[in-house]
Amino acid sequence: MTEKRKYRVGVLGSGKGSNFVALADAAAADPAAPYEIVLVLSDVAEAGILAQARSRGLAAQYLSPGAYRTKLDPPAEAAYVAALQQARVDLVALAGFMRILKGDFLCAYPARVINIHPSLLPAFPGLEAWRQALEHGVKATGCTVHFVDPGVDTGPIIGQKVVPVLDEDTPGTLHERIQVAEHELYPAVVRALAEDRIAVQGRRATWRRG
Ligand code: GAR
Repeated sequence: MTEKRKYRVGVLGSGKGSNFVALADAAAADPAAPYEIVLVLSDVAEAGILAQARSRGLAAQYLSPGAYRTKLDPPAEAAYVAALQQARVDLVALAGFMRILKGDFLCAYPARVINIHPSLLPAFPGLEAWRQALEHGVKATGCTVHFVDPGVDTGPIIGQKVVPVLDEDTPGTLHERIQVAEHELYPAVVRALAEDRIAVQGRRATWRRG
C-alpha cells in the first residue's frame, strides 16, 4: 500500500514555541494526519522553539536575521527561502515569528505563508495584542490565522476563535487563555490547508467541510 504524501510544513518562530508544539503534537498523535513539520527556523539562537523541535527529533536551525531590527535583511531572506526550498516545504507557518516578511520571501511562497495572531483581526494588529485588547476595554478578543501579505497582520483571514475578557484579567492571564484557543485553531487550519479545503476569493477564505 502506498502512503499518501503528506503536506510539508516549515515553521518560523522567535519565542517559546507553544504553537509549534501544538502543530507538531497534533500531527504526531495521528498517523493519518495530512501534514508533517519538516523544518523549524528561528531568528533567535536560544529560542525555546528550537529546543522544542530538537527534542522531537525535527530539523531545527537558527538563521541570522541580518542587520535589521524588524525584518530580515536581503541576504537573510535569501537564506531563509533557500532552507525552506531545500526542505521542499509546501507551507510556511509563522508561530510567534517577530519579523515582518517582505516581497521576495512572499513571492517565493505565494499564498502559502500563514500567521497566527493573538487578537480578532482587524482589531489590534502589531505587538502585544492581548495588552492592547485589555487596555481598550473590549469584552471579547481571541486569535486569528491569516494569510501573510506585505502589511502587518493584514492578509485574508482563514480562521478565528473568540476568547472572553474577564474583569480580573491581567495581560498575562488573558494571553494564556488566548494561547489555549491558538493551540486548537492553528492545527485545525493547517490540517484544512493540507487537505485543500480552503478556497480564497479576494479577501474571503471559505472552508469546505472535511
Ligand atoms: C503567540 O501568542 C502568537 O499569536 C504571537 O506570539 C505568540 C507566540 O507564542 N504572535 C504575534 O504576536 C505575531 N504578531 P509561542 O512562541 O508560544 O507560539
